[in-house]
Amino acid sequence: MKCLIALIGISLLGTGCYYDHADLAYPQSNSASGCNVSAVTYSASVTGILSANCYSCHAGSAAAGGGIKLDTYAGLKVYAANGQLMNSVNHTGGIAAMPLNAAQLSSCQIKTIQTWINNGTPNN
Ligand code: HEC
Repeated sequence: MKCLIALIGISLLGTGCYYDHADLAYPQSNSASGCNVSAVTYSASVTGILSANCYSCHAGSAAAGGGIKLDTYAGLKVYAANGQLMNSVNHTGGIAAMPLNAAQLSSCQIKTIQTWINNGTPNN
């Protein structure tokens, strides 16, 4: 009986270890090492991150973002080029940390935006 309980315990521990590695099973999660940036595009990758985390204050007629519009390619490109986009999400450069009053973007999301900039901010 003692042996059976021990066996059940070991198998439960085993399952726990498996779920600890969700970042390996689901590569699009927060892990930078499992972050796939081989096919980053403006329309599919960058706007998805910004619409979920930034557009509430920085899109259309939203006034909450100090008049800074990031929901158009032309608008976003200005902040990509002057360095403020990366400084704001990296919390560097002494400018306001973004998203304002919320958790920092995941390392994979930041890496995705950085890759788009490294690729020359294509409108793709
Ligand atoms: C809750 C509202 C809110 C959200 C969400 C938000 N911002 Fe902002 N953002 C602001 C405000 C307000 C300012 C003006 C801050 C200032 O001038 O001090 C600002 C300023 C900025 C600036 C200019 C920085 C500066 O100091 O001039 C950038 C770039 C920026 N935001 C990018 C982003 C990005 C990228 C996201 C999403 C990851 C985001 N913001 C999400 C409210 C927000």
